[in-house]
Amino acid sequence: MSDPTRFDLDDRQRAMLAEMGVRVWWPATPVAPAAQARLAGPAPEAAPVQATAPAAAPAVVPFEAAALPPRAAPAAGPVTLPVPIRPLAEGVDRMEWTALQETAAACQACDLCAQRQQSVFGVGDRHAPWMVIGDAPGQEEEQTGEPFAGQSGQLLDNMLQAVGLSRKAKGESGVYITNAIKCRPPGNHNPTAPELATCAPYLARQVALVQPQIILLMGRFALQSVLQTTEPIGKLRGQVHRYQGVPVVVTYHPDYLLRNPADKAKAWADLVLALTTAQG
Ligand code: URA
Repeated sequence: MSDPTRFDLDDRQRAMLAEMGVRVWWPATPVAPAAQARLAGPAPEAAPVQATAPAAAPAVVPFEAAALPPRAAPAAGPVTLPVPIRPLAEGVDRMEWTALQETAAACQACDLCAQRQQSVFGVGDRHAPWMVIGDAPGQEEEQTGEPFAGQSGQLLDNMLQAVGLSRKAKGESGVYITNAIKCRPPGNHNPTAPELATCAPYLARQVALVQPQIILLMGRFALQSVLQTTEPIGKLRGQVHRYQGVPVVVTYHPDYLLRNPADKAKAWADLVLALTTAQG
């Protein structure tokens, strides 16, 4: 290719994609508008901001992944998060990093603090261009104090590496990773709407401090907190949403992808959409 871009994958990134189960097809000529539209996924039904078409030719992954297994359809749609269970400390929306992290670590605003060993605040470059937001920490995360510490974290790292990013990197290859909920829900129960609402100001302040170019939401509780909707991920992916003015792309949670590897191709398309949007 005569005009190299960040979509040129090196051998290591190709190995990562192979590990993700993603087959990359390289067009001989720049991607046609129709193929670019395919990368951006199906046309949105609601009114979110459209992805800008990438200027250069990205790697195209065919959308031949198997359909999601049938499941009971919960009532989905916009939600308004309830008021916090108990008030947070004064001034969370103005705190700098140290105060914010210490306040979250000592937070008693919801009942998740009762069994907390330590809060899981975030990891990575605090000035990174990318921010990844997951659902809530599990046991391994609570033990290590780092989001996405287990097997799903390994897959997340591989996915990020495929687009040239690392939680250990600084600068343009950096990524800041956090969760919608900072304390582990005991028994790994699904975060409740009041728990999400109570923790949301910490996340809002983290986004305001990082000021990322792109936010990648992974998981339905991350969606619920940030986009205030219970629409399924399958309906919200392929579009660019907004939070605090920052473009937001939605994709599958790594735990889901470990159970449904056929959908890794869709996750790759989501990463490409995020990458082109961030570069936009
Ligand atoms: N799942 C998440 O959503 N976040 C983590 O940190 C770990 C697992």
